[in-house]
Order: sequence, then structure tokens, then C-alpha cells
Amino acid sequence: MKLGTALTESATKALLLGSGELGKEVAISLQRFGVEVIAVDRYQNAPAHHIAHRSYVIDMTDAEAVKKLIDHEQPDYIIPEIEALSTSALQEIEQQGLATIVPNARAVQLTMNREGIRTLAAEQVGVPTSSYAFAESFAELQAVVENKIGYPCFVKPTMSSSGKGQSMVENAEQLQQAWEYAKKAGRTDTGKVIVEGKIDFDYEITLLTVRTKDSNGTVQTYFCEPIGHRQEGGDYRESWQPQPMSDKAIRSAKDIAKKVTDEIGGLGIFGVELFIKGDQVWFSEVSPRPHDTGMVTMITQRQSEFDLHARAILGLPVSTRLSNPGASAVILGGIDAKSAVYEGLEQALADPDTEIRLFAKPEVFVKRRMGVALASAEDIQLARQKATKAAESIRVKVESNTG
Ligand SMILES: Nc1ncnc2c1ncn2[C@@H]1O[C@H](COP(=O)(O)OP(=O)(O)OP(=O)(O)O)[C@@H](O)[C@H]1O
Ligand SMILES: [Mg+2]
Repeated sequence: MKLGTALTESATKALLLGSGELGKEVAISLQRFGVEVIAVDRYQNAPAHHIAHRSYVIDMTDAEAVKKLIDHEQPDYIIPEIEALSTSALQEIEQQGLATIVPNARAVQLTMNREGIRTLAAEQVGVPTSSYAFAESFAELQAVVENKIGYPCFVKPTMSSSGKGQSMVENAEQLQQAWEYAKKAGRTDTGKVIVEGKIDFDYEITLLTVRTKDSNGTVQTYFCEPIGHRQEGGDYRESWQPQPMSDKAIRSAKDIAKKVTDEIGGLGIFGVELFIKGDQVWFSEVSPRPHDTGMVTMITQRQSEFDLHARAILGLPVSTRLSNPGASAVILGGIDAKSAVYEGLEQALADPDTEIRLFAKPEVFVKRRMGVALASAEDIQLARQKATKAAESIRVKVESNTG
């Protein structure tokens, strides 16, 4: 393989569809190889816009807008960072051989809709999942819950992420509300929901799985150490690595991740979400891109999940080796505001084993992720304590005009 020089005629160009905090780190990793990075998002001054060579604001679900921009920029690689994209545009671009979609257009299409990826994993690949059914009306939902899934269960829009529109339902009385919420909060009103039986897991993990070429050019699959995490309201608050697992459970987890990612294909990193109880493992879902819980790898691995993604995209050898245990803790907005100020960094960084990333999102919302605290330690318990303490030290405020 060969790489060009950014901002010259020989440039190797990568275009990010979605420019959040994960995209920003991918951009940095690519720029370390001299790749020219173009960052696209639906709003101005998104995190990766701050550091990309060029930035655009477009509606990424608009096929014409996506195709026009690709035609103008002619990137070598198109790297989706979010799920809500025009998959028809990506398919067309891939078919015409205009650029490499990471990992491929089908993966983007399959994973933007829970129905696509769940059906593929459970029915085509045949890995264990929770029981599930789909419903397009309240009556249909009632019927499948009563006859097949039972309580407790999870009702989710087929098109949504970060827990939006998702609720756990414990009895028949709560079902109507879950249906209304899913319909209202879904990304697009397909009106379709998935209902899943609740898995009574001991813990859940993200198994970062990398498909890349080795030095002989053969595609290989590598795994990072498992990442444990804690979710609240469908969004992650804390993650740590390595999550201790039984030999049998880690073997099953790798086996499931290998099978699913083999079927998806392409090169890059995948965040395989799994539920574990004892030695038993269930597949939940997969992101064909870096995973938010994987931000912990910025302090635990020599090559972070973003470095691994960049290398895999370029077809380069990787190392998934853990350097030390560590943890991440999310810094939430806590308020609704514009141009926030951040205080408490002195306290947060007093411990030499902590780091803070602030994403510089122009607008703050109560539950918006504004930054992340990272900590390394001899063990995950201590790392979690340090990361949480550092995150709690950060105060997000609005600058008063009188000051
Ligand atoms: N069937 C289930 N059994 C038990 N817990 C579940 C189930 N489905 C979801 N959860 C819990 O809810 C969390 C979020 O679910 P899921 O990953 O499906 O949502 P999401 O909207 O895709 O979230 P994200 O985009 O943050 O991954 C899971 O990580 C898990 O903690
Ligand atoms: Mg998830």
C-alpha cells in the first residue's frame, strides 16, 4: 500500500460522515499518517470540524447532498461515524467504485436498522441473542409480547441509537406507554419496533474486534481485551478494561464476534456488544466503527480503538495489546447552554494517571456528552474510582456577562 501527502495532488483522502468525539479521534489517528481528512456533520463546529483539513455541514440522510459532496471531494475512504446516513447514496458510490466505504455499504445499512443486524446475527449467522419479535402496531406488539416474548422485555424503535425511544416494560400496563415512546422517539417513523426478552446478565461488554490485513496482505481478526461498561437510560456512563471473564465466556464472546464480523466483512474496527451470565454469552448488537465505551482505550492501549480503526482502514498491521488497566467516565452537560465553560480541571488532573478530553461541542444539553475522564491504575476498581472522581471534578457552567 502507499500513502500520499495531505493537501497535495498525491493526497490520500478520508471523509468522515459524522464528526463527533469519536470521529475527531479517528481524524487525529489518520492525520498521524499524513492522510487528508474531511469532516462532515449536520451542524457547524462539531468536534472533528475543529481539526480536519476541511469541514462541511450537510444533511447526511439526503442522498443527493451526500453524492454531490463525494463528487466534489473525491475521497479514497468514506468513514461513517453515525448510523443515520443515506445508505442508498453509499451503495451507489460503492457500486461505482468511487470510494471505499468503511467497512462496506451493506454493513452501514444492516446496522442502522435493528431488524437488519438482529436478523443477520440470529437467523443467518446463528449466534445466541435474546428472544425478539417485531411489531408495526400496538395490537401486534401486545400479541407478540403475550404469545412469545413475555415480561420483562425491552421495546425499542428499529431505527434509533443511544437508548432513544427505548424502554423496559415489566407488565402489560406499561406496554402502551412504551409503544408511544418508541414511535415518537425513533429516528424515522418506520412505526416499527423490536421487542426483546430481557436478558438477566451478570455484566455486559464491548468486544472491540479489528479486521485488518497482516504484513502478507491476508485479512485477520484481532480482539482487544473485553471492555466492561455501565449504561444508564440506554447511554454509557462508565467503562473499564479489562473486564474479568471466565475462559469459557471469553472464548464464546470471541467466537460470536468473529462469526458476526466475518459475515459483515470489510476492514476496520467493530464494537461487538455482548451480555454475559456465568459462561453464557448473548449477542446484542454491533457498531461497524469505534464504540463510545472504547474511549477507555485512549489510556489502556498503545494503539487506541481509533488508531486501530485508522490502521485497519489503510490495511496496516495492528497490535491490540493492553498496556495497563484503565477506566473512562463520561462528563455530561448537566445544563442547557451555549459556549459553556469548564472548571475543575486542576482537581481532575491532580492525579498523574488521569486525563481529560473536552469535545468543545458548541451547545450543551443536560444529557449531552461534553467530555470524558480517563484513568489508569493497577486494577479496574481503582481506575474506575479515579475516572469517576475526575469526571465529577469537572463543572460545566455558563459564563456570566457581568464577570
Ligand atoms: N434484551 C435486553 N436485555 C437486557 N438488557 C438490555 C436488553 N436490551 C438492551 N438492554 C440494556 O440497554 C442498553 C442499551 O441497549 P441497546 O444497545 O440496544 O441500545 P442503543 O440505543 O443501541 O444504545 P447505544 O447506541 O448506546 O449502544 C444495553 O447496553 C443494555 O444495558
Ligand atoms: Mg448498544
